[in-house]
Amino acid sequence: SPPLLSSSSSSSLPSVSHFIGKKEDIIKAGRVTKLVNGCRDVLVLFHQGQLHAMDMRCYHSGGALQHGDIEEFNGRQCIVCPWHKYKITLAEGEGLYQAVDDPTVKPLRTRWRSKGVKQRIHQVTEVNGDVYVTLDDSIEAIESDVYQTERYRTVLLKA
Ligand code: FES
Repeated sequence: SPPLLSSSSSSSLPSVSHFIGKKEDIIKAGRVTKLVNGCRDVLVLFHQGQLHAMDMRCYHSGGALQHGDIEEFNGRQCIVCPWHKYKITLAEGEGLYQAVDDPTVKPLRTRWRSKGVKQRIHQVTEVNGDVYVTLDDSIEAIESDVYQTERYRTVLLKA
């Protein structure tokens, strides 16, 4: 049976790690999706030597992030949702957008800004080539939580 690993978070509740797959298989596939603990659809991906895990459906409208490209914006690696091109940082789940510096100055100059954490990020642990995810169970609501219901699982499963 898989080892139980405690989360490094300061939560007093014990957190359980769920087996996702062999690291070499995830590297080969680039990304995998898995229903974790019967309750959460999680995308695990390997990019530039690092494993990341996040809610599978985009916080904006439930888009299928597993089909998104990964690109760098403002020095941060982001998954770009294939539905409406929202950009989400892999490490923090922050939504990035381009803001206009000063609308009175032409030509307009834009810079990347963060909307804050919008996509729930989960902790990935590797033990002897096996990859585990520990669900982030902080009670603070994150927008991507909305798309983790049975309804979206059924409607969007094949999206
Ligand atoms: Fe992802 Fe709209 S659903 S950008």
